[in-house]
Amino acid sequence: MNRYDQQELLRGLDQGISLSSVWYTGDSILDHEILKVFRKSWQYVGPIHELAEVGDYISSYVGEIPVVVVRNERGIEGFVNVCRHRRHEVMKGCGNAKLMQCAYHAWTYDLHGCLKAAPRADREATFNPGDYPLLPLKAERLGPFVFVNADPDALPLEHYFGTVLEIISASGLDIENLKLWRREAWQSEANWKTLLENFLECYHCPVAHPGFSAAIDVDQDSYRLTAHEWFSSQVGNVRQSALQGKSKVPLYDVRGVVHQAQYHLLWPNFTISINPGFPNLSVDLWQPDGPGRTKGISEQFFGPDVDETWAEELYQFNKTVGEEDDELTNSVQRSLKAGIPAKGRLLTNCEHLIVHFQKLVVKALVD
Ligand SMILES: [Fe+2]
Repeated sequence: MNRYDQQELLRGLDQGISLSSVWYTGDSILDHEILKVFRKSWQYVGPIHELAEVGDYISSYVGEIPVVVVRNERGIEGFVNVCRHRRHEVMKGCGNAKLMQCAYHAWTYDLHGCLKAAPRADREATFNPGDYPLLPLKAERLGPFVFVNADPDALPLEHYFGTVLEIISASGLDIENLKLWRREAWQSEANWKTLLENFLECYHCPVAHPGFSAAIDVDQDSYRLTAHEWFSSQVGNVRQSALQGKSKVPLYDVRGVVHQAQYHLLWPNFTISINPGFPNLSVDLWQPDGPGRTKGISEQFFGPDVDETWAEELYQFNKTVGEEDDELTNSVQRSLKAGIPAKGRLLTNCEHLIVHFQKLVVKALVD
């Protein structure tokens, strides 16, 4: 990344000049992102209620590092999910286990990551099991969400995202009182940044999302976009016409204790979405799968008393918005791949969250 001048890029972004298309298409940029963005930031692994009992574990990947978070008697702890022997991944998926045993040669670790058994190692003169624990990783929670960080020097999770919880509670939602309703994997034919930049503005909403724009007041003077240092928030109010059932397009029932829509991006690739209505929240983890593809995990949560039919209605509403977005981002990614024109022009009055995001990318990648 030595060919870039950080100050020049940041100055351009302040004037709305976007990063050039090669940042969205090249293998070498992605290699840098894996090391300098994904391995240096807090990465979501799953909800805390899946780590409620001793032995509960969730495995995931952080900047391509296999990771596992486990609950033991001390709390939650994170480890590199790679056996110290031949580097096979130790735990798969999520569940509950008394010990962490590698399925390759049965090297077995306790819930603190200490190597307890290595078959045939007792015949090895110089072998000391104490030399081979699973490598530790930072693991912390933000409300009901568990994250890990592969950077031993990272500041606490709270430092980066603590205040987002206050913004969320102002929506009327009790974030601690939600149940996981559905989890699914998805994939997209666009760079992870292409997708998140689409998430970060609602300039396109009146044009491309008729249903969404009938439910949420997306007018420029009422829809608020705020760049915090490490997270960005969009807050919109439910439309009166939607509350009164007077929308011209079919909508889900927007009436309920949650009176705002909120969309947060926690740097670099975790989003939280809340829609007006009954208690609801969905999260997405956006992971690069090569420069031109993204693989994601989506989890939908609802309040414990939310009706199944309503949950399904909101899910379908969001699915429609997602399909509308896919068409947009696929088109953008094809043009980025073509590389002409090399740069775009951002509007700093309503796309400043994209400017902020691209600046974080630049600061992470260019010294
Ligand atoms: Fe959209």
